Parts: sequence; C-alpha cells; structure tokens
Amino acid sequence: MKALRFHQFGGPEVLQFDEDAPVPEPAEGQIQVRVSGAGVNPVDWKLREGYLQAYFPVDLPATVSWEFSGTVSKLGAGVTQFEVGDEVYGHSRYGTMAEYTVADVVGVAKKPFSMDLPDAASVPMCATTAYQALFDVAGLKAGQRVLVQAAAGGVGTFAVQLAKWKGAYVIGTASAKNHHLLQEIGCDEVIDYRTTPYETVVKDVDVVLESVGGDENMRKSLSVLKPGGILVSISSAQPTEEAEAQGKRAEYCFMQQNSSQLTIIANLIQDLKVRPVIDTVVPFHEAVEAEKENQEGHVVGKMVVDVRR
Ligand SMILES: NC(=O)c1ccc[n+]([C@@H]2O[C@H](COP(=O)([O-])OP(=O)(O)OC[C@H]3O[C@@H](n4cnc5c(N)ncnc54)[C@H](OP(=O)(O)O)[C@@H]3O)[C@@H](O)[C@H]2O)c1
Repeated sequence: MKALRFHQFGGPEVLQFDEDAPVPEPAEGQIQVRVSGAGVNPVDWKLREGYLQAYFPVDLPATVSWEFSGTVSKLGAGVTQFEVGDEVYGHSRYGTMAEYTVADVVGVAKKPFSMDLPDAASVPMCATTAYQALFDVAGLKAGQRVLVQAAAGGVGTFAVQLAKWKGAYVIGTASAKNHHLLQEIGCDEVIDYRTTPYETVVKDVDVVLESVGGDENMRKSLSVLKPGGILVSISSAQPTEEAEAQGKRAEYCFMQQNSSQLTIIANLIQDLKVRPVIDTVVPFHEAVEAEKENQEGHVVGKMVVDVRR
C-alpha cells in the first residue's frame, strides 16, 4: 500500500512516499481501517526528528501520524464493538498516513455523523488532549476562569470550546489575526501575545492550559494562577516544586487513548456545542508540505491529509 514514511530520523527531507508498505493486519483487540483522513500534529515532527525516542520508541521505517478517520475494513480476534463498514475516527500509534492502518479499539469510536470522513481526522488527538487536560487533570468547573495558551491551534480551539461548554470564563492567547475566530468560538477575552505579555494583564485564574513550552513560560503561567490554582502543561515538563512553593499545582497531561471520551466529543460536535476548526484538507501528495507547515507552528485549528486523493 501507499504510505508516507521515514526510514531514518531527521527533518522533513526524510519523509518519502512508499508504494510497497505492508498492509497491517489487526491483532487481537484491534481493527484494520481503510484510512480516509490523517491529522497533522506537532507530535509527527517530534517523533520523526527522534526527540521522543526515550518515551515512545519508534521502529523504522515508521508511518507518519497518530490519528485517523476511515472505514473499518477488518476485525481482529475478540472485537465486538465495531463491524466492517463502520465509519470511525481515533488514535493509532501504528501510523495513519497510509491507505490502511490498525488501531486498538480502546482508541476508536464512531465518527461524528455530522462530519465528512476525511475531516473527522481533525478531532481525536487535539480534542481528547483538551478534554483530559481541562477535565481529568484540572477538574475545571462552571464559573472558574481558565487561560488557554495558543488558543488558535489544534488543542487550543477545542480547549476554548470545551471550557465554554463547561461554563468557564475563557481567556485565550493568539496573534491578532485569529482574535475574531477566538471570539466566535467562545473566548471571553483574547490577548495578542505578540504585543501584550499575558502575565501583565491576566491574574487570578483557576486553570492555565500551557502549550507553548519552556521554563520562562512555566514561570509566567504560575504567576497568573490564584492560590490553589493549577497549571496543566501539555508541551514540556511541569514546574512541580515551584508551584508547590507558591501554594499552587502543576501537572503534565499526556493524552491517553479513550474511546468513551471520543464518543462524548462526537456527541458534542453533533449537538453543535463544539465546532472543529479546520485550516485545510490537503490531498495525499501534499502531505510533506502540510507536515512542514505544521512544524512552523502557526496553523489555525487543524490540517488534515485526505489519503484517498
Ligand atoms: N501532551 C499531549 O498529549 C499533547 C497532545 C497534543 C499536543 N501536544 C503539544 O501541545 C502543543 C500544542 O499543540 P497543537 O496541536 O495545538 O499545536 P498547533 O496547532 O501547531 O499550534 C499552532 C498555534 O500555536 C499558536 N502559537 C504559536 N506560538 C504561540 C505563542 N507564543 N503564544 C500563543 N500562541 C502561539 C499559533 O497561533 P498564531 O498563528 O496566532 O501565532 C497557532 O495557531 C505542541 O507542543 C504539541 O506537541 C501535546
């Protein structure tokens, strides 16, 4: 089958379209999926450049992307949750930018019926990360104040909407060109991080969703929290001790595959409570350019690769 793979670690130049990649067979507890869409995420380049080898060792050659939408094409032993032909979306660490992938059923759900097949690949990774960071780790409640950093990005656009759905007051950071979008999706306040350091205008928030990274940004994030508040980092190590010294908390959230949460998210999308923000859907042959653009760090919402065209 055709797949976008890398045979060595490195920059985008190591990406290549292989026409003879083996079609993966589903093991027990897995399904095989005929892929329609594959999402483009920062984790793609972090894995490709070898930065995550200590945490998620990659066997080479490796297929790009950890999320997909598509149609179930085969069931592994013991799978009763799905039938061949079901339209699904989810996570797979086996690589999804290919004609077929396999996925553990714990990371898959029926796609939102209101979304087209390739587009639904824009949801699983970022929506689940936002959901877990805000609700499972931070325990966000109605009436609380939350600062969402990089609010115009993949995780940010879901985090803003999920926090609003929960009844929180939402402050988002983004460059000025994205402020209209952030207001449309529910931000109560928007800050242009290019002209206004958020730590000079934000204070006493209950939750910071930190996604920019770096020690300095961690310190600034802690400074805007109220006593007892929580910083949830999704991008780099959290400053646990510094937070405790200030009577605050800092936690790292790494997304865990979760089929039930994907179903909750599908329902929120169908009920128009959450609107996935899609930057572009590009044909398969433009996947390398999409990966490069994502790595530059200014995509609005999500990019999806339509592997069928
Ligand atoms: N821990 C996990 O499980 C997990 C899961 C998913 C993602 N992540 C990580 O979380 C981070 C965000 O992921 P993502 O998919 O949301 O990334 P993304 O979509 O690529 O983020 C792009 C957005 O970041 C904004 N941005 C860039 N620099 C900024 C800054 N200094 N302040 C505010 N906004 C800024 C850009 O807005 P402008 O164009 O307005 O600059 C753009 O809209 C990445 O590091 C990713 O690896 C972790």
